Amino acid sequence: MNRKVTVVGGAGNVGATVARAIADKELADVVIIDIADQKAKGVALDMYQACPIEQSDSRILGAGADEAGWKETADSDVVVITSGVPRKPGMSRDDLLQTNYKIMQSVTEQVVKYSPNCIIVPVANPLDAMCQAVYRLSKFPRERVIGMAGVLDSARMRTFIAIELNVSVENIHAFVLGGHGDTMVPLPRYSTVAGIPITELMSKERIDAISKRTAEGGAEITKLVGTSAWYAPGSAAAEMVEIILKDKKKIVPCSVYLKGEYGISDLFVGVPVKLGARGVEDIIQIKLTPEEDAALKKSAGAVKELVEVIKV
Ligand code: LAC
Repeated sequence: MNRKVTVVGGAGNVGATVARAIADKELADVVIIDIADQKAKGVALDMYQACPIEQSDSRILGAGADEAGWKETADSDVVVITSGVPRKPGMSRDDLLQTNYKIMQSVTEQVVKYSPNCIIVPVANPLDAMCQAVYRLSKFPRERVIGMAGVLDSARMRTFIAIELNVSVENIHAFVLGGHGDTMVPLPRYSTVAGIPITELMSKERIDAISKRTAEGGAEITKLVGTSAWYAPGSAAAEMVEIILKDKKKIVPCSVYLKGEYGISDLFVGVPVKLGARGVEDIIQIKLTPEEDAALKKSAGAVKELVEVIKV
């Protein structure tokens, strides 16, 4: 195929799920690169062998994270960074800060070296701080570093709304802004079922319960499974790749570097953006109530605390 996507940490749960979704949709050839080199090669081969059955001509290659492996990633259109340690039960995303920052340093250097024109989609936690690290280290324009969080968080909210109202998930749009942490900001006023705001369809108590469950969505899975979620995060990252490669210009919440939008400067925070072939093509500014604005600022404050620790 004439498009190429590299999934860094691709032998892990989230990475393999992203790679598989890209191959299933025949969006691009995929390079799975991982420090677990044998596993990367095995996972890639297994996935490639599923392609004849799935009727996909995506070619999937596994590579170790050495110089020869990185060479295989050259000239990728999109690089998804899923490497990093995952959460264990009881850990917050912020507990991963220092370890994953070190990983971002070595990974970003190689991404920039081999794919200087790519769009980077960081997925590692704590998400917004890792985006900021990758952005600073890569020196890419802000249009080409786009964090995956809002698509996942809003998918969780859509699922909870679908369960509550017993309607199709396809009918539902949901918006979640802010950092990908406990302070994220679900926006019920802008969350709709067939165009009807959920505030018309549910009591405040039920909406509050759904918002809380959304904000704690990652921890709920971690507690049940014993490690971080991967199906929904993988699908969310693959959706972003699809929007970019197909230049769909879809508006989705993503973590992007704000320069004054929403009154926030020099910080990655989740807001609605228009995604397309050039990456972030627009940042959509919607009117917030004073309460929503205060919640977004609080969430941005939590991200700022983290980026100050790693000084990025
Ligand atoms: C989650 C992790 C991946 O929200 O951040 O499940």
